Amino acid sequence: MPTIRVPTRNTAQAWRDAARGLVAGGVPPEDVIWQYGECADDLFAEAPTVPPTGDLRVPKSFVELTQNVCWHADPERFARLYALLWRLRDTPGLMSDRGDAGLAKLREMEKSVNRDKHKMKAFLRFREIDALNDTRRRFAAWFEPSHHIVEPLAGFFMRRFGDMDWVIVTPDLTATFTDGDVVFSDGQPKPPLPEDATEELWSTYFRNIFNPARLKIKAMQAEMPKKYWKNMPEAALIPELIASAETRVRQMQASAPTLPPVRAAKITERLMMDQEMPPPATDLEALRRDAGGCTRCPLYSDATQVVMGEGPLDAPLMIVGEQPGDQEDLAGRPFVGPAGQLFDQIAAEVGLPRDRAFVTNAVKHFKFTARGKRRIHQKPDAGEVQACRWWLDAERQLVKPGLILAMGATAAGALTGRAAGIMNRRGTFEETPDGTPVLLTLHPSYLLRVPNAQAKEAATRGFRADLAQAADWLKEHAA
Ligand code: URA
Repeated sequence: MPTIRVPTRNTAQAWRDAARGLVAGGVPPEDVIWQYGECADDLFAEAPTVPPTGDLRVPKSFVELTQNVCWHADPERFARLYALLWRLRDTPGLMSDRGDAGLAKLREMEKSVNRDKHKMKAFLRFREIDALNDTRRRFAAWFEPSHHIVEPLAGFFMRRFGDMDWVIVTPDLTATFTDGDVVFSDGQPKPPLPEDATEELWSTYFRNIFNPARLKIKAMQAEMPKKYWKNMPEAALIPELIASAETRVRQMQASAPTLPPVRAAKITERLMMDQEMPPPATDLEALRRDAGGCTRCPLYSDATQVVMGEGPLDAPLMIVGEQPGDQEDLAGRPFVGPAGQLFDQIAAEVGLPRDRAFVTNAVKHFKFTARGKRRIHQKPDAGEVQACRWWLDAERQLVKPGLILAMGATAAGALTGRAAGIMNRRGTFEETPDGTPVLLTLHPSYLLRVPNAQAKEAATRGFRADLAQAADWLKEHAA
């Protein structure tokens, strides 16, 4: 019986080569013993006689699955992958069979690896150590991942921190990045790491993003499990912030809204722009939960909550506005304030049933400036729209609408990629980059703002005609 020992480095590629060889040699899963260990030379501890070649064709989704699951800590992972590969030879459609227990287990393992990667990217903290030369600063970090993810994440850290030298130490593997090259060596126990100036930066950042009014201790611990706290400078603040949360909420309620200090906003931008994301959730509740932790742009820090779309997931029509307003921010639902009420009224007049549509916004957090106790709407900038398009795209993937009604220039730009003014485009159809038709119209809040009566009437007429067009489309296309 062949025993295959998959190495601790270059694991995914080595597993693939071995599995190809086994399939080519006709070795069934029950005849293989998979082990994980040591170096690449040991790959075939008792080598099968078949070379790792052959004309094996597998779906791309299987290759992607192996590239994640191979880094899972479960010793069964290689055997499970091989069993799936074996069955794929006769059942090419297997990868899309949601009821298959073997595949479901592997998908669950893939999710766990992706979650672990996400945590490592978010919670790893570098501390400055002595430099090797005077051109590049040098940093070290200790981390305890649940899976073998240091190697697959090395590229991320190289891109993100390419201008400094660094060492990431884990119990399982050490990655050392010097002058643009990364080298892997054995894992080590936790080294003594100095505290440094970045500690203060992280603590300032955390103090500023911590919103006592939104304190949910269980959710916070689920998102940032306690096992990571000990390596995170800002985590030392958590007990104190939790203890003082109630008092701070009372103080916040009594005072006028304030703008975040400029320095905190800058730190936020510096640390949180440009982050990599795990694959989007495949149900709306999970997507909403994930979006609740979004820090892709600074808008989350002042808004009360994230406002995601609502409506049936099989809605043929999606309606997209700009961003939640003051009332939506408090209610947590899109289009419930004055603009939403005007939309509802005109939609009802032309026979467009809102409850048959999925209603959402291009940007999911309320952007405002404080004036006294009032919060005045501010238009989101291009970077914020771009950052939030990830969530809009995730909603589009879930709903897969046949038509999207884009209300206003922000929605039109987010969906079509064209920033041209909306006045000349309204009433016409354009497309998203992936080919979904987009009917363009004005934003209902524009109708509320136009001071000139004649212009207001003309804008309302146009808006009504556009909604009527969407209603006709719905009648034609919906069962
Ligand atoms: N304006 C929008 O664009 N969306 C809302 O949800 C409310 C007002």
